[in-house]
Amino acid sequence: MHPDAKKTLITEKEINFRVKELGDLISRDYMDKDNLLVVGILKGAVIFMSDLVRQLRIPVELDFMAVSSYGKASESSGVVRILKDLEHNIQGKHVLIVEDIVDTGLTLKYLKENLETRGPASLKICTLLDKPARRKAKVEVDYNGFFIEDEFVVGYGLDYNERYRNEKDIFILKPEVYAKR
Ligand code: XMP
Ligand code: MG
Repeated sequence: MHPDAKKTLITEKEINFRVKELGDLISRDYMDKDNLLVVGILKGAVIFMSDLVRQLRIPVELDFMAVSSYGKASESSGVVRILKDLEHNIQGKHVLIVEDIVDTGLTLKYLKENLETRGPASLKICTLLDKPARRKAKVEVDYNGFFIEDEFVVGYGLDYNERYRNEKDIFILKPEVYAKR
């Protein structure tokens, strides 16, 4: 366990197993489509996305978006700013958004509505983690890795002050890590 971890929530092994399952599901659902564009939301989804796409048995293209929500770093305000937009024109394409975590749902609600206006053939959401306790906006998640309790988690792409993204497990930090800042 990482020295800053209070508790491991999801181990590397559990993540790998679940990512394979998600890959199977998605491969099956898109079997007859030939133009899936996987859109990763920077930076949290990068690790998950890179593992997930390697489990897909269908041809895919990759693209990325970076968004930031106004307000405190740990709390979504619902007002989302696009820091980096897609390179692809998604009109007529099947698009799968890959996100690290759905918390209030405000970020994904905004993203989904924004991308919907560009005329994709279909638009679905795949998230590694879902914290349903904190939901403020109704968003339909099509693929979800794990439901988690209302606790701040890091690892496997998720960060606290940009740290811990490279950790293999997903864990909760010791309170003194926040106290130090
Ligand atoms: P909303 O609330 O709009 O925001 O669904 C989702 C974004 O909030 C961040 N977030 C977290 N990041 N550990 C993190 O490292 C967490 O437990 C956590 N909860 C929310 C994350 O950037 C996500 O994309
Ligand atoms: Mg994020």
